[in-house]
Amino acid sequence: MVELDHIGIAVPALGPALERWRPIAGAPDGPPEVVASQRVRVAFLRAGPAEVELLEPTGPDSAVARFLARRGEGLHHLAFRVPSVDAALAEVAQRGGAVVDRVGRPGSRGRRVGFAHPTAFDGVLVEFVERP
Ligand code: CO
Repeated sequence: MVELDHIGIAVPALGPALERWRPIAGAPDGPPEVVASQRVRVAFLRAGPAEVELLEPTGPDSAVARFLARRGEGLHHLAFRVPSVDAALAEVAQRGGAVVDRVGRPGSRGRRVGFAHPTAFDGVLVEFVERP
């Protein structure tokens, strides 16, 4: 059984977003981190057993920049903790679901991550997270 790891929210700028979310989710677990593979700068806020991930694009070529241009800030993805990102992506592909990543790639905080396409999960971008 997979568990919800975090909820990703796209924002144009981390600083003001952190201030908005602080009363709900507390302080971030550390300084913001640039995730080169996704061209984003992220901060995580603990929310019970899961976390809120705030994503700021690092440039106009970021998928999150395109998301913000198209839809504005808001809910971007749901992330589920799995034993194996590669196996989770393969399972989605095997049942005919589209995937953004064929195999996992480096995520924030030393984790491996991989994304299924929103068409595979009722219009929701789904991220799989594997902890080291
Ligand atoms: Co995420």
